[in-house]
Amino acid sequence: MLYSEKVMDHFQHPRNVGKMDDADGIGEVGNAVCGDIMKMYIKVRDGIIVDVKFNTFGCGSAIATSSMATEMIKGKSIDEALALSNKAVVEALDGLPAHKIHCSVLAEEAVKAAVKDYYDKHGIAYDPEQFCSGDCACCHAHDVPADADQK
Ligand code: FES
Repeated sequence: MLYSEKVMDHFQHPRNVGKMDDADGIGEVGNAVCGDIMKMYIKVRDGIIVDVKFNTFGCGSAIATSSMATEMIKGKSIDEALALSNKAVVEALDGLPAHKIHCSVLAEEAVKAAVKDYYDKHGIAYDPEQFCSGDCACCHAHDVPADADQK
């Protein structure tokens, strides 16, 4: 079978879908490969992610990985959430077809973007590079300086 039972389960019954009106952090990211978008909401108390919700305009694999990612960070510390890799989410889902791995990146980046937004809104200092995978849309740590082409 192309998709594991866990992928099918999370795709057909996604956990933590929806919007959060009183979120402490909101991350919105787009997938450069397919153009799909994902929005992740987190509620934080004493450094713990006590609630999380997501919405996506994305494919089934994006829905399944986001659903699994929300389950994996709920009740965890922010540091644990930041350490969550798309690889760990894919493993928890018993794998994805190779051409769908890029979909799982959306979930990881959305979690990071939501934490970054939480830090920004609450004046918490951080190293921007910590949010950068090198090609993501969630920070500008690797942006080319504006004057680079004038030299
Ligand atoms: Fe766009 Fe999967 S094809 S996230």
